[in-house]
Amino acid sequence: MKNRKITVIGSINMDLVTSTDRVPTLGETVMGETFHTIPGGKGANQAVAAARLGAETTMIGCVGQDLFGQDLVKHLENQGVNVSNVKPVTDSSTGIASITIANGDNQIIVIPGANYHVTPALVASFEDVIATSDILLLQLEIPLESVEKAVELASKHQVKVILNPAPIQPLPKELLAKVDYLTPNEYEQQLLFDSIEWTEQERQEMVKKCIITRGSKGITFFQDGEREIPSFKVDVVDTTGAGDSFNGGFAYSISQGASLEQACQFASAVAALSVTKFGAQGGMPTMEEVQAFLRERNEIL
Ligand code: RIB
Repeated sequence: MKNRKITVIGSINMDLVTSTDRVPTLGETVMGETFHTIPGGKGANQAVAAARLGAETTMIGCVGQDLFGQDLVKHLENQGVNVSNVKPVTDSSTGIASITIANGDNQIIVIPGANYHVTPALVASFEDVIATSDILLLQLEIPLESVEKAVELASKHQVKVILNPAPIQPLPKELLAKVDYLTPNEYEQQLLFDSIEWTEQERQEMVKKCIITRGSKGITFFQDGEREIPSFKVDVVDTTGAGDSFNGGFAYSISQGASLEQACQFASAVAALSVTKFGAQGGMPTMEEVQAFLRERNEIL
């Protein structure tokens, strides 16, 4: 393994997870099954996924000065993520995500709280951290202007950028042009392409950057035309964080110099293992676990 540095700028949430047989309709009350409070946030999840694989991972983000914030920072540190650039803020509480799991699928409402204190000025104050990274990994649970600032700085220092456009929102063409890899799911990809007017050439260029995660249907990416990788079949316990596991695995693999196809295959194995356990980070595998899984499936990378 080469010693490569992955920097994640993004959200750190406490996930409040309820599982139920049936999701109530508006105005209705139902009896649920279980409730758990577990670490989450797309940024933190992706950082943990990369760190568990052995990557030197740095997190830039904000938490509130509350118990959730303290627990989450401690947890990230225990997972091997460098938290020296995670800032506690006084006037907001730590981000939370209210997650309902029913019939193997989930619904998520995020209250960003402290995550919205990741301002462009804060991002700019970490220019040296960005400049010395091999990969910058971003999502959309912090203000869009901060994502734009991070991409601008990465591009200035020729640092590769992976943008996971989730939760999806309309994105400026200038931002997308500076990103190296975009990792939407099918729904996000559709909205991304429909929300912008493209020339044919721009559309083609954008398509080439996309690695589309399609859940149990596999991965689509573009290299000399459209290519597909089928998903690994596993017993699914909880799909929360599958996309984050994919992104952490993809960032790790690209940072090690893998080809696009190898990185997609590797990340797909990371995501498959992640859904076999409960919680966004619960099933995120170590490198040994991914290697054992691939050996078992006769996949050689
Ligand atoms: O991608 C899953 C994550 O989305 C959850 O951990 C939750 O915090 C939300 O950010």
